[in-house]
Order: sequence, then structure tokens, then C-alpha cells
Amino acid sequence: MNLKELYIDFFISKGHKQIPSAPVVPENDPSVLFNTAGMQPLIPYLLGEHHPYGTRLCDYQKCIRTNDLDEVGDTTHHTFFEMLGNWSLGDYFKDESISWSFEFLTKVLKIDVNKLAVTVFKGNDLIPFDEVSYNKWLELGIKKEHIALTEDDNFWIAGSSGPCGPDTEIFYYRHSGTVPSSFDVNDNNWVEIWNNVFMQYYKDEAGNISELPKKNVDTGMGVERVTTILEGFDDNYLSSIWHDVIEVIEDVSHLPYKGNEKSMRIIADHIRTAVFIAADPAGIKPSNTDQGYILRRLIRRAIRHAKKLNIAIDSNWEELIAKQIITKYKKYYHELVDNEDDVLEVLKNEKNKFNKTLEKGLKEFSKIVSKNKEIDGLTAFHLYDTYGFPIELTIELANEQGLKVDEKGFLENFKKHQELSRSSSKAKFKGGLAGNSAIETRYHTATHLLNAALKEVVSKDIHQRGSNITVERMRFDFNCDHKLTEEEKEKVENLVNKWIDEALDVKCVEMTKEEALASGAECMFIDKYPDIVTVYEIGNVSKELCGGPHVKNTKEIGKFKIVKEEASSAGVRRIKAVIE
Ligand code: ALA
Repeated sequence: MNLKELYIDFFISKGHKQIPSAPVVPENDPSVLFNTAGMQPLIPYLLGEHHPYGTRLCDYQKCIRTNDLDEVGDTTHHTFFEMLGNWSLGDYFKDESISWSFEFLTKVLKIDVNKLAVTVFKGNDLIPFDEVSYNKWLELGIKKEHIALTEDDNFWIAGSSGPCGPDTEIFYYRHSGTVPSSFDVNDNNWVEIWNNVFMQYYKDEAGNISELPKKNVDTGMGVERVTTILEGFDDNYLSSIWHDVIEVIEDVSHLPYKGNEKSMRIIADHIRTAVFIAADPAGIKPSNTDQGYILRRLIRRAIRHAKKLNIAIDSNWEELIAKQIITKYKKYYHELVDNEDDVLEVLKNEKNKFNKTLEKGLKEFSKIVSKNKEIDGLTAFHLYDTYGFPIELTIELANEQGLKVDEKGFLENFKKHQELSRSSSKAKFKGGLAGNSAIETRYHTATHLLNAALKEVVSKDIHQRGSNITVERMRFDFNCDHKLTEEEKEKVENLVNKWIDEALDVKCVEMTKEEALASGAECMFIDKYPDIVTVYEIGNVSKELCGGPHVKNTKEIGKFKIVKEEASSAGVRRIKAVIE
């Protein structure tokens, strides 16, 4: 059995229910482009909402973190990783959580207790020393010298506000030599393997801390890192997570891993992440904004490194790598099977598109380098606009030559050309939690009405393909083979407003997935839902599987107005709307 299976079995034996991994592209959370931690899809429940599976949950969650995308190429960084997590929603707390972590590590994974060390929250002006955790570790047999008290590192929050609390981190001594008698957090041989967060507080936007109504436990363990450690490697890419993928890259490049590590790691990592983004039910395609831009950057950077390894770009190398990744993960994530053709097509199309200009772009780049000491903004923009070089690629190429790029100048040119400013997508990588503000809640209910109205006015076969809500507007993607006519748009808008005026009640009911389907409830991706689901009914006009939150009555929504209808991707249209 592998780590994922051992972990899930263990927590099931402790009364947990396994929940499915949420998609990598969060729905209805405009504050982040991707799921960055196992707890992210659970935020409503960590804030007190009832979870249909109960109070003890566990899973493995697909995560994407792009903030240190440029670090990929070393032995440990990845843009995609899997996080193992177990949660208590107002159920057990520190005592059980720490005991079970200890039991899993020492009994199931059979790690020698002497190789373990922990950090515990030292306390500060606002929050006291976590004495309970400290004493529990001592009681279990972690010696005093292997417990470090730290302040900032032991307080966990996603972004700047939301559920949070002190945590205790578990470290493993990965070096084969004698384990030092005392634990030094700055010694790189001590690697963090697990984080148990004791979420007892809520931090609001203004920085005020309040007690959560129920105390929760949120834990996270990185599959890649722990697998590598257990297998005794100090390079993640040598572990069973990667070695077969690296082998495919060795085959297609006719080169050994040794001596070509950096490019091979980048190709392996970026293609894997691209596969998961392209396979996501959100139907992301390479583009110049948001998730589509990340997808584009990943694929183009992988291609650049494939070229460095002299791989024939127009051969099917990317398909072979992607297929190896799909084979490896399909047992856990069936969207890889369902959407395999789409994934391969996305990779191939983007490759063909970039390949047309890559060679010329690289030549142009060499010319620029021979004449300049710095790449100015306009030149960087020209490389982007004419040769499709994402700015990050230009920066990477320039750095390799010891040159700087005027990124600010690039952005100015970029904005001038009315593209979405890269800084706005950058802001989203900071992480953070979706606000469930009143306005967003109103938009959320309006989304369900819009979905129902489109079915009635345009076609009963219309379904949601994606949605995104901010405090300023809603965006709704749906399948449709034509541009909506003015008449259709007007009818849809009028129908939504009619339902709002009718002051329809919004009800939330819990039922099994089968019952929900039999009742004709709308849902985007049935497989992703747990067996017991919540269904929101709006009068008798809409019935959808959904986690909420929603208004109680449609009259709370206000006046609904469509501001734009446009193509989103092949066969998918996008409506932007506001409420006034
Ligand atoms: N949410 C915690 C983390 O990401 C467990 O470390």
C-alpha cells in the first residue's frame, strides 16, 4: 500500500469519513486561482456549517501553488502536490489529534521516535502558549530537547483573514547519520512532514481575533515530501512519485537524468500540473488571463526546457509524458480518464502554437542580448506579443545571460494593449479566503436563477461550466453553441428579475445523491459530491446541488442586469452580470 492508502485507512479506523478531492480550480472563490491546501474547500464547514459527512473527515487533496513556480528545478519544489488531511469539525481536539499523528508515524509508518521532533506555539500577546500540545508530545515520548517553541511559524492562517490558530509541526531527521540530541529548526536535515493546526480562532479583515463557535483540527501532510523521505532519497524526483516520469523524459530526449536534472524536473513538474489543470472540470484552456495564463506559462516553459534537451518539439514527447502521468494518477482522480482527450489536445495545440514562433523568438532574443545590457519594457512586450514569450520566460532567459528585464516597462506596455494586467492575477496568488459577504451571497443565488432562466429561454440542455463571484459582479460560464441574441439576453434578464420580484423562498434540503438526481436537481459534476448532498431549491424554478450560502428569499437579491455575453472557450459562453 502506498502512503495515501495507509493514511486514509488509518483515519477511517479512527472514525473518519473519506471525502473526495475537490477540483484544483475552486468554484465560487474568486480570491484564489487554485486550491492551495486541503482545508480550502472545507472553509464553510470550518466556520461552523454542518458537513453532510459528519465531524471527522479525511482526504487527499490536489493542490496547486504557483508562488514559487520559478523555484521548480531544484530537488523539492513542485507546482502541483497532493496534501493528506484529517479534520475535526468541532469534534476531537489536541489530545486525539496529536496521539493519532504519533501513532500513524510510529506504528503504521514505523518511524523511529528518535527521528521525530516537533515545534509548539510559544504564545504571544494575543494567544497563550500551547501547553496542552507541549505536554501531550512529552507524554507520548518525544523528548524535551526535540520540542522547539516558536511563535510566528506556529500560527496558521490561509492568507490574511479567516479561520486560524496555533499549530504544531512535526519534523523528521532525514540524514542517515546520528540524530542530534537537540532539535534545531534551522538544520535542513530536519524536514517538516506534518502540520496539525488547532483552529480555534477567526481573524477578520481588520485583524481582530475572535473564538470560533466550534474548535476544529486541520492537518496537512505533503505526499511528495513524505514519500521521498520514507524511501530514503534527498531528491523528490528520484522517488517513486517521479522516477517513471523521468524515465519517459530520458527516453524522449535520449539523455540521462544525471547532468540534465534541472530541465527534466521542470518538464516533469510542469507537464504534471498542466495535465491536472487541463483535466479539471472547469475546462480551463491556455489563455492570457488567470488560470489559463498559468496553464500557458507551464506548457511554454516545459517546451523551452524540452528544446534545451534537444527533444524534437514536433514529435509526440508531451503526449508520452502526459500519458504516463495519467496512467499513474487515474486510479485516484477519474477526471484524468474522463478528460484525457481534452488534456492531450490542450497540450498539443499549445505546443503547436508556441512552436511556430519559438525558434524565431529565440533568434530574436539572441540578437537583443548581443546588443543590450538590459531588456526594456517595449522589447519584452514585443517578445510576448509577437513570439508568445510569457514575461516570466523572457526573465528566465535573460537571467541565464546575466541580463535584467524592465518588468515595470513591460507591464505598462501590456496594460496599454488592454490585456488583463498580470498584477491582477498576481494578487490572486497571495491566497486568502472567499468572502461570504452579503453581496456575494446575493450573487450566488442570482447565479442559480440565471442558470434556470437560460434553460427556460435558450435550451434545456444548458448547464453551468464554471462560475466566479466577486463583490462587484458575477460571471457564469455555460455550454451553448451560439452567441445569445439580443432577444434571448433580454428574455433571460427579464425572467430572472421576474423571479426576484416574485419573492421566492430559498430552501436548503439534505438528501442522498441518488435522491437529488432523481428529483432532477441541477449539478455540475455529480461525482465530486459526497453521498449526502445539500440541495438548494428556489420556489419551484430552480433546484441545484450546492454548498451555499444563499439568501433566504429572492427579493433580497436586487435588480439583475446582464452586462456582457461573450465566448469563453469552444462551445462555452460567458455571461457577466451585476445586481443593483
Ligand atoms: N492547512 C494546513 C497547512 O497547509 C494544514 O499546512
